[in-house]
Amino acid sequence: MHLKIIGSAAGGGFPQWNCNYRLSRGAWDGATNVVPRTQSSLAASANGKDWVLFNTSPDIRQQIAATSDLQPRAYGPLRATPIRAVVLTNADVDHIAGLLSLREREPFAIYAAHRVLEVLDANSIFNVLDRSIVERRELVLNEATDILDSKGHPTGVVIEAFAVPGKVALFLEDLSKAADGFGTQEGDTIGLRISSRAGGRGAFYIPGCARIDDPLKRRVSGADCLLFDGTLFTDDEMIVAGVGAKTGARMGHLQISGASGSMTALADLDIKRRIYVHINNTNPILDETSVERAAVREAGWEVAHDGMEVTF
Ligand code: MLT
Ligand code: MN
Repeated sequence: MHLKIIGSAAGGGFPQWNCNYRLSRGAWDGATNVVPRTQSSLAASANGKDWVLFNTSPDIRQQIAATSDLQPRAYGPLRATPIRAVVLTNADVDHIAGLLSLREREPFAIYAAHRVLEVLDANSIFNVLDRSIVERRELVLNEATDILDSKGHPTGVVIEAFAVPGKVALFLEDLSKAADGFGTQEGDTIGLRISSRAGGRGAFYIPGCARIDDPLKRRVSGADCLLFDGTLFTDDEMIVAGVGAKTGARMGHLQISGASGSMTALADLDIKRRIYVHINNTNPILDETSVERAAVREAGWEVAHDGMEVTF
């Protein structure tokens, strides 16, 4: 199984278009201690030929341009793509807006949980992907699902989707239900176990997660690789940085640090390779010389960058 992290930043990317905070500022200025990153997306292939995208970000065109495996094959048909399917983990803009760039009457399949398919159905702009060409298929939670191409042929990629604690997409928040997760329901945010038809080895992809509970720990224990929500280092990071009013808890993202953070919560689990993804432009781990970056490295975590590969 080949995994390629084609976008490692959270929504907004790094640097973010309107951001002057010190990390984005460094990236604008070409500082050597920070590396620019596009928005959150992962590509996977079991055979090196057929690729499945996990989330499609507004940067998908740039990501395809940077990844030859995702480009039309030389001497292939006039219109072609090795991208056979897209799997969505939530309905956040950074994870679904890239679908709009995958129009042009190219067959592939979209897989998502019921709640996310409802969002696509309710927003007619997604009809630029003609349903007779791009089929929408509902993911059943807690069941192994063979990812099939548009014609129903197996790609070799198998996933199991499961609900994780999260939050409904920002643009769907019901402010009258603030005390009740702004109307969040099960399946608004899912995690995925990704494996191949050929073997039992698996990686977990969880780019958004609000809380780590015992069922989640049991699930990811023994994994070959865990790609986990690395949005924020501290819960109040955006407030302290002066760029926003929301905590991680308010946004549905568990912070990395502290007694209740993901680094401590996952510390004792048997996981071969652990990588933070979906990194916000305020997160000090983006600075390769920072103490925070050293702390995650010390704890056995890698920090995703665009183009990072995982093979298992
Ligand atoms: C998130 O991960 O919290 C969202 O991508 C935020 C957003 O939609 O900007
Ligand atoms: Mn996001």
